[in-house]
Amino acid sequence: MRYKTMTAVAALVLSAPAAFAGGADDDTLAIDGQEMVTKTTAPAHMEETGIDTIMSGWHFREDDTQSMQMDTFDNPGMIFVDQAMDAWNTVEGNAEKSCASCHEGPESMEGVRAVYPKWNEEAGEVRTLAMQINDCRETQMEAEPYKYDSAPMAAMEALISVQSRGMKVDVAIDGPAADTWEQGKDLYYTRTGQLELSCANCHEDNYGNYIRADHLSQGQINGFPTYRLKNARLNTAHGRFKGCVRDTRAETYAPGSPEFVALELYVASRGNGLSVEAPAVRN
Ligand code: HEC
Ligand code: HEC
Repeated sequence: MRYKTMTAVAALVLSAPAAFAGGADDDTLAIDGQEMVTKTTAPAHMEETGIDTIMSGWHFREDDTQSMQMDTFDNPGMIFVDQAMDAWNTVEGNAEKSCASCHEGPESMEGVRAVYPKWNEEAGEVRTLAMQINDCRETQMEAEPYKYDSAPMAAMEALISVQSRGMKVDVAIDGPAADTWEQGKDLYYTRTGQLELSCANCHEDNYGNYIRADHLSQGQINGFPTYRLKNARLNTAHGRFKGCVRDTRAETYAPGSPEFVALELYVASRGNGLSVEAPAVRN
């Protein structure tokens, strides 16, 4: 079993040139002049992982991709933020309300992205931002929920995330969220598919190395939803998880499933201390 796994990793992963050892470059990300924390000391719960510095995926991209994220006008993801701004002000559903009816401007969402996924006491569950948006649509607006990883959902998440840009990710993993966090952690280390690879095999053991032509990052989600040049749209964290699991040739959980919600909480917590960067630009 162990031998087989080693073979699968070896077949996929090409070592980085010596000059890139450790993987990340030393560039500084400033968005419209505001400096982001893209490298910082790993949170205490990661002590056992051997990772002492956590890094934004931005450091692992090519210069021209990086630069698109440094200016709001160059960031193609901002088009979708504008679309969500229209949706924010649009009355929908039987209660004849828009988001703005109760929340005023989207600036009221400052700080929200940084602490999600988050325990919701009344519902007795850990909620992702997407779940919370849909809860407002269904119970407050009496409108149809967005499909979990649809374009309008990704755009609304991006609009809300931009309000926290530059703030440090700070999701709670203790108290009532602890069980969900543990479940997410288990999933992170579970090997799946014909390749028998876990998230950790790629994003913990091999970040900085190349896999096919792709420079492996730590798989952080502080930049989500991200605009990808590959598909020219915003991509949700659950959409990314799905793609990564599929690459191990495994059946995957659905976006919005309890498993991916737990995984999101765990992955988010590995980024505690990095700046919220959404919408980040990726290849
Ligand atoms: C009828 C009023 C109403 C409408 C309309 C409404 N919401 Fe809410 N929303 C609430 C209430 C009440 C809360 C819970 C406040 C609290 O306890 O933090 C909330 C909470 C939230 C939160 C969580 C904030 C936090 O601090 O955790 C988000 C995100 C949110 N709403 C997004 C939206 C979006 C996006 C829309 C439009 C699609 C919307 N809401 C429409 C009433 C509304
Ligand atoms: C076979 C290796 C492999 C496995 C296993 C894998 N990934 Fe990935 N993942 C990649 C590659 C390659 C990319 C694109 C380059 C990068 O950002 O690392 C990527 C990208 C990501 C990103 C985007 C990071 C960013 O900054 O844009 C996230 C998040 C992510 N993976 C999470 C996961 C999670 C969670 C799991 C486990 C369910 C997982 N990955 C399993 C290879 C893998």
